[in-house]
Amino acid sequence: MMIREVRSEDVARVMELLQQLWPGKPIDDRRMREVVEKYVADQGYEIYGYEEKGTLVGIITASYRWALFYEGQVAIIEDLVVNESHRGKGIGSRLVQSFEDRVCSNKLVRAIELSSDSGRQEAHAFWERHGYSKLAFQFRKRL
Ligand SMILES: CC(C)(COP(=O)(O)OP(=O)(O)OC[C@H]1O[C@@H](n2cnc3c(N)ncnc32)[C@H](O)[C@@H]1OP(=O)(O)O)[C@@H](O)C(=O)NCCC(=O)NCCS
Repeated sequence: MMIREVRSEDVARVMELLQQLWPGKPIDDRRMREVVEKYVADQGYEIYGYEEKGTLVGIITASYRWALFYEGQVAIIEDLVVNESHRGKGIGSRLVQSFEDRVCSNKLVRAIELSSDSGRQEAHAFWERHGYSKLAFQFRKRL
């Protein structure tokens, strides 16, 4: 097994995993490919994957931004998903741990934030076990 940066050629597998994160959500192939490419190429965005026997079985995506509140940068975990048949084996925890290790080596970053749909009770317990505490309500206006 290994945790590695996701590359352009992984995009199809990344979309399969994202579909598991958002069951039933239509994913536009072309638009999603474009955004995955941005995550791969742009500074301030990243996707790492957990590879087992040559297949990606989990991914974590993140972005970094300046935040006045933190007087520095905040790292945001955007998406975390582990392939359904691989859950409960520590893969999600390892993806989070390796992300935190990367963040800790970046002295500009003062905090990690993430948002999680209110219905994902198991995921909330997962985050709390990893030292994250509930912070705020999230509001959205779709465009
Ligand atoms: C949440 C998730 C990434 C955790 O990855 P994982 O590899 O299963 O996590 P680990 O094996 O390191 O830890 C397992 C823990 O996660 C929790 N968990 C959350 N959802 C789970 C699921 N669908 N299946 C198994 N465990 C799950 C369990 O409480 C479990 O706790 P336990 O060890 O006390 O039994 C993964 O379960 C997943 O992809 N879930 C669906 C997508 C999702 O909710 N993503 C997070 C959005 S904020």
